[in-house]
Amino acid sequence: MRIGILTVSDRSARGEREDLSGPALARAVSERLAGATIAQTASVPDDRAQIAAILAHWADVLRLELILTTGGTGVAPRDVTPEATLDVVERLTPGLAEAMRGESLRVTPHAMLSRGVAGIRSRTLIVNLPGSPKAAVENLSVILPVLPHAVELLQEDPAAEQHH
Ligand code: MTE
Repeated sequence: MRIGILTVSDRSARGEREDLSGPALARAVSERLAGATIAQTASVPDDRAQIAAILAHWADVLRLELILTTGGTGVAPRDVTPEATLDVVERLTPGLAEAMRGESLRVTPHAMLSRGVAGIRSRTLIVNLPGSPKAAVENLSVILPVLPHAVELLQEDPAAEQHH
């Protein structure tokens, strides 16, 4: 499974704050997702067009199987990661976001403030995670068990559909 990790943060993109969340996610998937390779990592500012452009490039050109974003899911005026993701996905996978928020509510009521979405562009699954390293890894942990099956189904040959 080739994975892209996109850190969305004005300060990280300007080099004013070290990106801890991207590396924390990379470590978590490498250790806990069999066969995962980190194919791409990048930092972008909280800019809807820039976020959408990278997501589309990673899906359409690099054909990554999974893209994790971290940051920009909250309610601050600059938080636009969900909107950028909705700009590029063709189908939603609301169950992933529902499960992450549901489980995260056990950790903190602030989980209600994450507006993260998850969805599919072509054969790429895109999942928004919150920005702090702790929140990003906690949310990833919730969906980790279903990611191999999700990615497997996404890569299915449409011609094979008629056989089951
Ligand atoms: N989810 C978990 N599991 N753990 C957390 O600590 N923090 C929350 C929330 N989700 C948190 C969490 C907080 S404080 C916010 S503001 C929202 O995610 C949005 O985070 P973001 O704006 O950094 O994307």
